[in-house]
Formats: sequence, structure tokens, C-alpha cells
Amino acid sequence: MRHLIDINDFTTEEIEQLLVQAEDIIANRAAYSQVCRGKKLATLFFEPSTRTRLSFEAAMYELGGNVLGFSEAQSSSASKGESVSDTVRVVGCYADIIAMRHPKEGAPLLASKCSPVPIINAGDGGHCHPTQTLTDLLTIRREMGRLSDLTVGICGDLKFGRTVHSLISALKVYSSIKLRLIAPEELRLPGYIRKDVVERNGMEYAETDRLEDVMPELDVLYMTRVQRERFFNEEDYIRLKDSFILDRKKMKLLPEKAIVMHPLPRVNEISVKVDEDPRASYFRQVENGKFVRMALIMKLLEVQK
Ligand code: NCD
Repeated sequence: MRHLIDINDFTTEEIEQLLVQAEDIIANRAAYSQVCRGKKLATLFFEPSTRTRLSFEAAMYELGGNVLGFSEAQSSSASKGESVSDTVRVVGCYADIIAMRHPKEGAPLLASKCSPVPIINAGDGGHCHPTQTLTDLLTIRREMGRLSDLTVGICGDLKFGRTVHSLISALKVYSSIKLRLIAPEELRLPGYIRKDVVERNGMEYAETDRLEDVMPELDVLYMTRVQRERFFNEEDYIRLKDSFILDRKKMKLLPEKAIVMHPLPRVNEISVKVDEDPRASYFRQVENGKFVRMALIMKLLEVQK
């Protein structure tokens, strides 16, 4: 039985197959409408989410399956003190696959050790978010036509942003990726990722706190929200929250063929005026998330078209 806890649980070939499958789903949606008939997905969300949870649910419905679950810890037995291991043992008796989001780093990994069904990590604290990364890879591939030979600027909260951590871990296998890490001093990429992922894999990178300086060389600009819920005090959040705001004026610095991505939700970091720009790909990115999750559910449930 396979789980997806960390993006590196899958080989490069497996990720490639998922992206190809997702593109086939996009091209032939009707052919997939019954492949998960009779199967159930449980969404166990111990932390708030709109996109990710609904995206999993929409994905399962589009495959002809059913969905059960909860969307906040208060409405689950966690509020009575039940452990994550017990919860998945129980839910594994009702569902064929589980997507779990949890505020504690490592909770989905722990769940996978005792679950009778496949576990998908839908985000664990400030650690990782592999299904957002599959979404991001599909988006880059569809928009840019390739996953190698790209200069990728990642901007915002690189310290707590779990989508950033998983994306960098995924990009390390593609050739000629240049990273431009744009963050205020306090929100720089954690040392364990900079050293163990970026440097160990010989990725070319530069760190800066000036977005404008690197924009002209980017193929992909990946904006992120400052992760308020992971701050220890509100004052630091307030001081840092508007460190970078992408507006129409700054967009003039971005090459014509580049794209702007964002895992969403957006707070202030991208002006709504940028939405009309054809390079703004974040709403297309949302849609890709559903298709790649369809491909992932099929893989883990071992069902075919
Ligand atoms: C991200 C997350 O939950 O980490 N959202 C998402 O899943 N699309 C990004 C964020 O919350 O800032």
C-alpha cells in the first residue's frame, strides 16, 4: 500500500506519470466519471482549508466516488482527546482512502504507520504540502511546456510556507533550475531545506529581500502569503505581512513569457489588478489541483480508466 506524505515518496517517473494522467483526464473527462464508483474518500481536516479540501472532494466526485469527513478538529473526536492513530484506524474502516490536514508537522506520517488505507498528506503544519506541489508542477508544465531549464522566484514566507518546502524538494530533480529566494531576513528558507535540499543537490540559488531586482530574470514567480497562524506574536506578523506586494507597476519588470503563481489564499501580496494580466496563472493553478488529485486518488487506489 502506498501513501503520499512527502513529495519524495514518489519517484520522478511516478510524478511524470501522474502529470500525464492528469492531462489525459483534462482531455477526456467523461472517460473517468465512473472509475472510482463505490469507493469512498475521507477528508480529515484538523486545520482550516477551502481549496484543498473541496478540491479533493470535487476530484473524488468527478471520479464517481463518494466523500465523507470533517473540516475542523472541534467537530471530530480529537476534541474529546482521541489520538490521530485511533482516528485513522476508525476512519479506515469506513473509507478506502484518507486525505488529512493537520497543524502538527508529522501527523500524517504517523497516521500512515497505522492506517489500513492510503493516507494523503494535505498539509502538515509548516512542513510540507505534496499535493499542492503536484498542482504546481502540472501548472508549470502546462503553462511553460517544461519542468527543466527555468528560473523560479519564490517570494514571501519561505520559513513557514509548506508549499514552498515541497515545491523546492520536487524541483531538485529537474535540470538547470535556478532558484531566486525572495524573503525578509526573518522569513528566509529554513536551513534544513537550504542545506539538505538546495545545496546538497547542487541547485543554483540566490537569496534576496528585493523582489524588483530579480523579476526581469524569472520564468516563474511563485508568490506566497505570510503564514499568520504560525507566528508566535501578532506584532511580528503585522510588521512582516506586507513585505512584498506585487502590483501592476512591478509586473512591468516580469518578462512577457513568465507566469505568476500563488497557492492561494491571497491576502495582500498580489494586487487584484494583476488578475487580468494573462501571466497571472493562479486561478488556472486551482483548476489543475483538482485534476492532479484525481490522478493521485486513482494511483493510490490502483484503479485504471
Ligand atoms: C496553502 C496551504 O494551506 O499551505 N494553501 C493551499 O493549500 N492552497 C497556502 C497557504 O495557506 O498560504
